[in-house]
Amino acid sequence: MERTFLMVKPDGVQRALIGEVVRRFEQKGFQLVGAKLMQITREQAEYHYAEHVGKPFYEGLVQFITSGPVFAMVWQGDRVIAISRTMMGKTDTLEAGPGTIRGDFAVHTNRNIIHGSDSPESAEREINNFFSSSELVDYSQVI
Ligand code: CMP
Repeated sequence: MERTFLMVKPDGVQRALIGEVVRRFEQKGFQLVGAKLMQITREQAEYHYAEHVGKPFYEGLVQFITSGPVFAMVWQGDRVIAISRTMMGKTDTLEAGPGTIRGDFAVHTNRNIIHGSDSPESAEREINNFFSSSELVDYSQVI
């Protein structure tokens, strides 16, 4: 079963969009495996955004993501990585279509509500950065 890491960023939490985001992924048919409201450390943020080191927006991005609570989640389901990226909409909010989370709720690319892993490798790395295995549930024995 494929898993992905999704995170409602500080702007989404401040705008009370946690419920809206969770509702969309539940209704789509994915299963929530882990979730927590947390304020992430500078170290976690630097690890999470390592691929953006050196870009002009990097420092602002790290400051923003550590500035307030985020809602970190792990979801599972068939093709959840690719489908959740479609549901989120494009990173550039100008290109995020109506019906997507960013298309419906975000105006600026640096305040784009939600993060989602872009590959199985990123998902594993990001899940491990934010969750321990004991924080993730197992549905396989549910009767
Ligand atoms: P995300 O895809 O979650 O991870 C990288 C983030 O960097 C991206 O969301 C945006 O929030 C942010 N980002 C990307 N491009 C820019 C940009 N040109 N200016 C500011 N922030 C950006």
